[in-house]
Amino acid sequence: MLNWDDPLTPAKEAKLESVKAEMPAAASTAAEAVVAEAPAAADIQPVNPDDKRVINGLTDINQLAPFKYPWAWEYFLNANKNHWTPLDISMAQDVQDHQHNLTLEERHLYENVLSYLTTSDILAMRNIGLAVMEKMSAPELQIYQARQVYEEALHTWTYQHCIETIGLDQGEIYNRYRVVPEINGKIQMANRRLESVLRADIDLTDRDELENFVMAYSFFAGIFEGCWFYNGFSPIFALQRRGLMKGTAEQFQYIMRDEVLHASFGIRVVKQIIHEENVSLDPKAIKDMWDEAEACENDYANYILRDPILGYRKEDHMEQFRFIANRRAVQLGWEEPFPGAECALPWLDEQANMRKEKNFFETTVTEYQTGGALSWD
Ligand SMILES: [Fe+2]
Ligand SMILES: [Fe+2]
Repeated sequence: MLNWDDPLTPAKEAKLESVKAEMPAAASTAAEAVVAEAPAAADIQPVNPDDKRVINGLTDINQLAPFKYPWAWEYFLNANKNHWTPLDISMAQDVQDHQHNLTLEERHLYENVLSYLTTSDILAMRNIGLAVMEKMSAPELQIYQARQVYEEALHTWTYQHCIETIGLDQGEIYNRYRVVPEINGKIQMANRRLESVLRADIDLTDRDELENFVMAYSFFAGIFEGCWFYNGFSPIFALQRRGLMKGTAEQFQYIMRDEVLHASFGIRVVKQIIHEENVSLDPKAIKDMWDEAEACENDYANYILRDPILGYRKEDHMEQFRFIANRRAVQLGWEEPFPGAECALPWLDEQANMRKEKNFFETTVTEYQTGGALSWD
């Protein structure tokens, strides 16, 4: 039986007596507080869903339905179809591959990709959970974002599980974003955007603050998740194509399915804010943001691929970044930042969707519950 007081300790060890002794006092205090704060019945008006807004709304945020944004609820339901934990996936062959089958260059690539991604997912969690969610004024949006916060934490666990099972030096791996300038550049760009919207005194009825918030959310959904994460997994999928680090790649397949939803949801919310609040963004500021993101990605690609590896070129990594960037920009209703960029990794979507053949008796079956291939658009 679960011990509610201390869930990690078996129930028989719990000090139930002390809990019972404390309960009546706490309950009565809470009840009195509720009565004291409750509005008089005459003040309570039903919520009209048409009055809900993404931000700056004045309706009661505790009322979920009727929905004004039914698509947000659909995102939540879809997100719940992708269930896994990193423990479901065997990493045994990856340990072997890392020790004996990867070249030095491939090990450099693998470790730095993990190092970048794990720091990034902490940032992603803090952005959505601390900076974005509190500004939403419709609960159906917050519900999906709450799920997203959990998923970012799950992703961090996944990277940690890979780092732990492979036996990498945690102090060293987790510090790379601070000491490797080519990783630090991307983290700095994200940190700057995050910190600009993580202040308690932001007033989104102020046009400058509003535009800055929309730019920051666009950055996280369209670039950070939509390009950097999306593109960030592909070096590992390239190893997977050659039969290497397949456990890690399978972990990333699950993460990528979440990230595709995160990017798509964020872009949809941004567009809704732009529509409702009549926001017009500065095209030059948008282009500058893309150019900075490209420069950061270029430094990163030059570092993780400083020596060539079989089956994955830094030129292709960058061309794919520009190709995906155009796609995200169009989704956001913006001009393509890199006209003419072409798909450089035509195998990527199929590889990312590939299901591992499972021996039922060997491992837990972790088939995706959604069925069918995911559309990355
Ligand atoms: Fe994530
Ligand atoms: Fe994410």
